[in-house]
Amino acid sequence: MLEEKVKLIYNSAKSEMSAAIDSKSLYDLKVKFIGKSGELSLIMKEMGSLPKEERPGFGKVVNKYKKELEAIYESCEQKLKNKELENKLSSDTLDLTLPGPYQPVGSVHPIPLVIDEIVDILARLGYSVRTGPLIEKDWYNFEALNIPADHPARDEQDTFYMKPGYVLRTQTSPVQIHTLEKEELPLRVLSPGSVFRSDSDISHSPNFHQIEGLLVDEKVSMADLKGTINFFVKEFFDSSIKIRFRPSFFPFTEPSAEVDCSCPICKSKGCRMCKNTGWIEIGGCGLVNPKVLKSANVDPDKWQGFAFGFGIERMAIIKYGVSDIRLFSDNNSFFLKQFV
Ligand code: DAH
Repeated sequence: MLEEKVKLIYNSAKSEMSAAIDSKSLYDLKVKFIGKSGELSLIMKEMGSLPKEERPGFGKVVNKYKKELEAIYESCEQKLKNKELENKLSSDTLDLTLPGPYQPVGSVHPIPLVIDEIVDILARLGYSVRTGPLIEKDWYNFEALNIPADHPARDEQDTFYMKPGYVLRTQTSPVQIHTLEKEELPLRVLSPGSVFRSDSDISHSPNFHQIEGLLVDEKVSMADLKGTINFFVKEFFDSSIKIRFRPSFFPFTEPSAEVDCSCPICKSKGCRMCKNTGWIEIGGCGLVNPKVLKSANVDPDKWQGFAFGFGIERMAIIKYGVSDIRLFSDNNSFFLKQFV
């Protein structure tokens, strides 16, 4: 009796599953017939009404049907899934005009941005770019620039010393010597790049950037230097900027001057950026010291020159009103994205 009942359940499960039209209704049939509270499980509970010796045999029969139904379910499920996929592929259309997934786009870092802008401005006066090594011989970084070993100017530039006779360059000025050694005169060159000093706080970074300018020709005067810097600073900030040259000292220039520009942030009214003075220092300059020309085997009786060196971070800080020099090397994309 019970076995017949099982057979009936099996038969109807088989025919209903084979006729299922989608995987959802197939799954419902699985639950109905072979699930935990499905018909086959319920009939197992009726086993108690059988004589003891028939019970193991009956259990085996139920399990056999259950296994068969499980196999039937799997094969029906596979068939339905394939059919569903086929239907989806034949009815779905691809919209190729939809935008793709978001891809973050980078932006130019403010330091190379400022370098490019300065180079573009001075290229209009005939300057072109030269580079030099970051690990520099003591000779190029100091001696040839008229900074002998015992000179106090060495202490001002907290130097990273490498193997004996070598330093991480503390300034871009050594490129002046490399260029004078190699090239024909007259010349006009710019040398932007990294420099290193053992110094770190809100306005000093151990790795920062400078741009060096050098012009060597016959009959060069302070007036040429002032005219050049005036042009470049006004182009870089804006034409209302005023420039001031303060007498100063650099071993490699004579005479030497420091260059201040009127504060573009507060328009000289006084602010945090200019420490309420209305002026901000942006670099140094001067007429090339004849001793420097001699170091590079250039005849100072025939040739003169002027040179200048500006801090790139400083120019960027003033132009964009950046409050902390360390932001330039933190690589926070929210900060960097502002300079597009
Ligand atoms: N090299 C100097 C420094 O790092 C800046 C400088 C001053 C460069 C005067 C020059 C110059 O070419 O003429 O402080």
